[in-house]
Formats: sequence, C-alpha cells, structure tokens
Amino acid sequence: MVFASLFRNRSGSGGKILVAFASQTGAAERIAWLSANALVAGKDRVVRVAPLGALSVTEIAEAGTLLVVTSTYGAGEAPDSARAFVRKQMAQTPALKTLSYAVLALGDMKYDATFCGFGRGLDRWLAAAKARRLFDVVCVNGDDDVAAMTKWSEQLNRLGAQTSAEALMPGPPRDWLLDERRLLNPGSPGGEAWHLGLVPKDTAQLNWTAGDIAEIWPRNSEESVTAFLARHELDGGLSFRWRGQWSFLRDIIAHSRLPQPHEVEGIALQWLVDRLESFATREFSIASLPDQGRMELLVRKAVKDDGSLGLGSGWLTQGCTIGGVVKLRLRPNPNFHPPNDGPQLLIGAGTGIAGLRAHLFYRQQKKLGDAWLLFGERTRAADLFYGDDLKAWQADGTLARTDLVFSRDAVPKKYVQHLVAEQGAEIGRWVRERSASILVCGGLAMAAGVQDALVAILGEESLDRMTQDGLYRRDIY
Ligand SMILES: Cc1cc2nc3c(=O)[nH]c(=O)nc-3n(C[C@H](O)[C@H](O)[C@H](O)COP(=O)(O)OP(=O)(O)OC[C@H]3O[C@@H](n4cnc5c(N)ncnc54)[C@H](O)[C@@H]3O)c2cc1C
Ligand SMILES: Cc1cc2nc3c(=O)[nH]c(=O)nc-3n(C[C@H](O)[C@H](O)[C@H](O)COP(=O)(O)O)c2cc1C
Repeated sequence: MVFASLFRNRSGSGGKILVAFASQTGAAERIAWLSANALVAGKDRVVRVAPLGALSVTEIAEAGTLLVVTSTYGAGEAPDSARAFVRKQMAQTPALKTLSYAVLALGDMKYDATFCGFGRGLDRWLAAAKARRLFDVVCVNGDDDVAAMTKWSEQLNRLGAQTSAEALMPGPPRDWLLDERRLLNPGSPGGEAWHLGLVPKDTAQLNWTAGDIAEIWPRNSEESVTAFLARHELDGGLSFRWRGQWSFLRDIIAHSRLPQPHEVEGIALQWLVDRLESFATREFSIASLPDQGRMELLVRKAVKDDGSLGLGSGWLTQGCTIGGVVKLRLRPNPNFHPPNDGPQLLIGAGTGIAGLRAHLFYRQQKKLGDAWLLFGERTRAADLFYGDDLKAWQADGTLARTDLVFSRDAVPKKYVQHLVAEQGAEIGRWVRERSASILVCGGLAMAAGVQDALVAILGEESLDRMTQDGLYRRDIY
C-alpha cells in the first residue's frame, strides 16, 4: 500500500498543501486522494497526501495548509490508524499559528451524539492550537450526502482545485444477481447466518482484493412498490434525475422509505422524488476472491424486537428471490488488504469469518502457509461455518494452526478473546520472532476484547507500531 506520495504540478511553485486522512474502511482515504488530485490539477502548488497517524506535530506545523479528511469510529473515536496520534499528539496543545486548516468529517447520523465526533474534536484541537480555520468543519452523513460534498468541493475550488461533489463521491451501484442462498447454521441458538452467492451482470465488476467490502442498497419488496405505485396512480416507468443519475420512478421508490399517503397526495412528482428518503447502504465483508467468478457473503439475518427484519439483511436473506437483482457497489478497503505474505494470525467471531475467508483463499492461492486462525462462534454442532473450507486449508497447509472456541459448549462461556489471552505466549512468539501480522474481523465487542488481550500480550506501544506499519488490521462493525 502506498502511504504517502508527493504530487508536483508543471512549475512546482506556489503554496504547500498537506492532505491528511484517517480512515477505517477506505472512504476518507479515497476522498483525500481525489481531493489532492483535484488541487494539483488546479494551480501551482505542491500537494502531499499522508495518513494523519504518521504525522508529527512538527510536520503539521510546517504544512502551510492542512486539509484533514477523517471518519469517526467506535463511539465518537478515531479510526485505528489515528488512535496513537490522539494519545500522543492530541494530548498536547502545540503552537500552530502559521497553519491554515480545514476538516472534512465523515460519519453517520445514526450515531447521533457522536456524529462526526472525531472530526469535530480534531477541528477543536487545531483551533485551540491557534491554527487558522479556513472554513467550518464539513460533516458528511453516509456515502450519499451530496449537500456536504458540494460544500467541500466548493471550498476546494476556492483553494484552486477543479472538482465537484460528483467527482469526489463513489459511483452508482451496479446490478448483481443473487444466484445462491444457503443457511449455514440450522438449529443454532444464534441468529440465522446465510451464505450468499452473487454474480455481476457486467463481469468487469469481478475486480476486488481480499479485505474489500460490498455496499448493498436495501430495497422494498417488489409487491410493496407495485402496491404503492397503484395506490397513488403513479407511472413507475417515468425517469427522474436521482442521486446523480437518471432512474425509473419504480427503482427510486424501491430504494426509499415508502412515504405515508399524506406525504404524497397533491404533491408534484418532482417534488416527491426530491424529498424521498433513500435507504442508506449496508456494508458486508466479501468472503471470496474475484477469480472464483462470483462474490460470496455471509449475512446474519437481523431480527428486531418487534419481530421485523433488518432492512438490509432481511432483504438479502429473505426478500430477494434467487435470480433477483441486488444493487451493489464495491468499496476498496485498503486498511484490510493483505499486509504482506508473511506469517499471519487471523482472529474473528461470527460473520467475521467472511472477511478472514477471503484472506485465507488469497493465502491458499499463493501457497503461503503459516496462517493461524482463532475463531469463535456459539456451538460446534450448528455454527462451524465453512467447515469444509477449514478442512481443505488444514490439509494443504494454508492453515498451520486452527483454534476454535464455541461459547455455548463451554462452562463457563468462553469467547475468542479468551482464546487469544490463553495463547498469549505463542502469539507473542509469532509476532516478535516471526513478524506475524494480525487481522481481526467481526463485531465491535469481540474486537475490543481481542484488542485488550493483544495489548496485554504485546503492549500498547507495540500494537500501535504494528497499526502504523499496517501489520495490525481490523474490519469491524
Ligand atoms: C465494514 C462492515 C462490514 C460488515 N460485514 C458484515 C458481514 O460480513 N456480515 C453481516 O451479517 N453483517 C456485516 N456488517 C453489518 C451490516 O452492514 C448490517 O449492519 C447488518 O446486516 C444489519 O443491517 P440491517 O439493514 O439488516 O438492519 P437494520 O435495519 O439497519 O437494523 C440493525 C439493527 O438495529 C436495530 N434497529 C434498527 N431499527 C430498529 C427499530 N426500528 N426498532 C428496533 N431496533 C432497531 C436492531 O437491533 C437491528 O438488528 C458489516 C458492517 C460493516 C460496517
Ligand atoms: C462500527 C462503526 C462505528 C461507527 N461510529 C461512528 C460514530 O460514532 N459517529 C459517526 O459519525 N460515524 C460513525 N461511523 C460511521 C463512519 O464514520 C462512516 O461510515 C464513514 O463514512 C466511514 O469512513 P471510512 O471508510 O473512511 O472509515 C461508524 C461506523 C462503524 C462501522
């Protein structure tokens, strides 16, 4: 992975701009690079891109102009790569009087009180250090916040860039067909986990790296869309400009919260389309490699307290018919790509096996061996996901070691973080003596427990260094 690069325009004179990013799943990193490219194209200047976590206060002080693009994780916290920066650099209030800066904060309003928390905190820290704020922090809600990205692109253009919201935002989703759906854990005391196979209509979409993410557009069922159009006598075949492209009204309605009758009656169609609340995408770790000819996902069906299904997982595991179209966008996730081809610990629980599985296929193809899987689920009888794959990886040497723990089979309950703690001495040897990398995939609580166990084994400094060197990587949710 390229960590930093220097762009120079033809003459190389003009101001200096440092574009720093802190990203967990790739969105902020992507926007940082696109913003930097747009600034280089615009004017005489030197533009540098760097991960925020790799910068010292001195480098920031000398940056001239600093533009930070960052997301927020956990509960208002920094992405992994900037955690050490928060502890070490943000604990001080340096003098940054000669610095001009601005922050683009990515987040999600569903996190409410911590919406864009880290980006806002960074903005406050820079202001407290007396740096000159070029413009107010721009907060972005989800992937499709055109208004916020328009603000950011306009500010970039004031700094001499040539860009637009459309150029900085991810492209439209593509059509994929659901061609397989299989329940992997019948009889499990936990939620249903479904293995899905998807093929793209356009085979050029078979292009991703182990660690990448599929963003899926949830949708209303075909029947509810048809009923809605009929009830309001609307022609689903009409086209409208929506989220940057021309779409049929039927598709727009399918991917939006269905309005109540009083929200529709007496309203001009264009007005209705402009006010529709489109569904946010749902992310899933890709569990296969493109040269297998299809995308595989492992999706846990979310069931709410009232018995209704989660919008995205409900659609994928139940609503969509086999052969049905799934709108999907690939999201490169450089922070979870293979760090190197050396020894590797793969740690996860539940649907976290999905992201780890793509890495194990990658290692199998390259005949790397030397992988150690530590994985936890509920019961061995029902929840041993991908047991045949595990056997094959053990047989061909891809998996040098496999440790599985099933919480409901043990008294007292035992989880993967306990397994990590128990194997501390050997994990320490793999990391210290063999420079093994560590990948963690799955839920936030599991990941936090595993992190505590790793800190106890390796020490915080060492884990920080591994994060900076890209040797400790997490795909967590
Ligand atoms: C990087 C990343 C990778 C991921 N990878 C995977 C993966 O490989 N496999 C996987 O299964 N998931 C994965 N997820 C999670 C996935 O994206 C979804 O969050 C998950 O499927 C639930 O989405 P949903 O639309 O089904 O549920 P939603 O409708 O969004 O509901 C989610 C939960 O919110 C609560 N909730 C929401 N609305 C209500 C309400 N009205 N009343 C009560 N409770 C409510 C419920 O607890 C519900 O279970 C990943 C997430 C991220 C960020
Ligand atoms: C586990 C998890 C926790 C998150 N916590 C927050 C949060 O506290 N506040 C917020 O505004 N956004 C939060 N987000 C949303 C991300 O900031 C948002 O999706 C962002 O676009 C991700 O950008 P990145 O890919 O560069 O990391 C969270 C997302 C995930 C998956």
